[in-house]
Amino acid sequence: MEARKPEMVKIDLSGVFIIFGGTGDLTNRKLMPAVYNLIRDGLLPEHFAVLAVGRKDKTQEGYKEEIKNSIIKYSRNEFHEEVWKKMEQIVTYFKMNFTDSGQYHMLSEFLESYEMNFKTNGNRIFYLAVAPEFFETIIHGIQGSNLILSTANYNRVVIEKPFGKDLLTARSLNKKILQVFPEKSIYRIDHYLGKEMIQNILVLRFCNFIFESVWNSKYIDNIQITLSETLGVESRGAYYEKSGAMRDMVQNHILQILSLIAMEPPVNLKMDSIRNEKLKVLEAMEEITDKFLEENVIFGQYGSGELEGILVPGYREEKNVDQQSETETFVGLKLHIDNFRWAGTPFYIRTGKRMGQQSGEIVIQFKEMPGVLYYKDVYEQTPNLLCIKFQPGNGVRFSFNTKDFSVHNGIVATQMETGGNTPGQGNTPEAYERLIYDIIRGDGTLFSRWDEVEAAWSVADKLIQYREQKKSRFPNYRAGTMGPERAQELLMKDGRKWW
Ligand code: BG6
Repeated sequence: MEARKPEMVKIDLSGVFIIFGGTGDLTNRKLMPAVYNLIRDGLLPEHFAVLAVGRKDKTQEGYKEEIKNSIIKYSRNEFHEEVWKKMEQIVTYFKMNFTDSGQYHMLSEFLESYEMNFKTNGNRIFYLAVAPEFFETIIHGIQGSNLILSTANYNRVVIEKPFGKDLLTARSLNKKILQVFPEKSIYRIDHYLGKEMIQNILVLRFCNFIFESVWNSKYIDNIQITLSETLGVESRGAYYEKSGAMRDMVQNHILQILSLIAMEPPVNLKMDSIRNEKLKVLEAMEEITDKFLEENVIFGQYGSGELEGILVPGYREEKNVDQQSETETFVGLKLHIDNFRWAGTPFYIRTGKRMGQQSGEIVIQFKEMPGVLYYKDVYEQTPNLLCIKFQPGNGVRFSFNTKDFSVHNGIVATQMETGGNTPGQGNTPEAYERLIYDIIRGDGTLFSRWDEVEAAWSVADKLIQYREQKKSRFPNYRAGTMGPERAQELLMKDGRKWW
């Protein structure tokens, strides 16, 4: 029997995609280009429309012109007039102040006729592409009007990160959302999960006997996760001051990657089977004691420095940032997963802004050979490394030792590498394309379930509290470097180094 190929196919369901924050940065840079590419690839349902909700006064023509320009600028695929013609017919701008609860009834009335036009049967997706302080306001507005139709096939809500600012606020937000939408209709976005290379972690692990059979502490010496950015906080100083690297990157993207790297094989590829295994990783995280915090956690903040020959300001000099700010722009971490598979293998994590290099990479370092044949003091050997790289570019690199032909008896590390441009891999879709596609077809696998978010906050909260209680000596790394010196020591004291 021929195996079924799980290709992306045109979705059969109809629906309206309502974007709160229709004039915002996320909508312009990510959401609209993603919708454009889904139309281009013929993946959207036949009966589908987008309603962009915003506070600004705009004509339909003016709004569409802005969206068109964003697509030209940010889409991964070239702009084609015929695709745009299809898109502009299904996009409408709706002016509304979403902090005014009285205006939700107007939206509700408008939707009735809008939906008749597009034959979308009352199926609605509410996408909250707004600043986190408006999440509850909008949920409350939706609750207080007739926006959820019991006759529809579905009503879904999509929430961007950060989901709360700590465990308590996350719980309270979740409670409020649950009064309106059941868990299965809540899509908590972590856009890293939409990245092809992050999804590739499971394929690499569970489709390759050669990797999965050695994927444990018996063969793996340590695992390193690096998410370093050369960018500073740009125009997001006000947001970042309240967030810092812990809330911005660690609580979500990093812990999600860690869960995928460390999880046990799920019983099948169904949404909850995968989420259950990811959750167990967070639950098995070593206990965060005072000793752990003192020895294994490093916070940093960038001072001024040089990047590609250009002088850049320190964090405290950025716009909308307090001159005495204690916010961390770097986190370095060593942790253990206390379960049967990982006992004894450390995970090293680092993430930061304004670092010397942009890099998103997971490095699996395998244990060294015993050296009874090729003695270590005679032959220089490099440990086997499996690197999963997701930016810049995508690829997997495996490093292993071979004979060095240029000398009589030498050994040299050789690399085997696949790139995003490997034949058959095509032009990598943007994370948001996949995520929007999955929201419409109702697949939450690439979104965080509440208990995962809760477990991640339980870990992050302790680290954040520790940072807030401790007087920092910020800034403690120069822009353009790979973070504070102590981040190197974190590995050096274990006889290791960042790769
Ligand atoms: C976002 C953070 O979630 O991820 C940003 O808020 C960060 O601060 C960004 O720059 C990184 O995403 P990517 O896809 O560019 O690696």
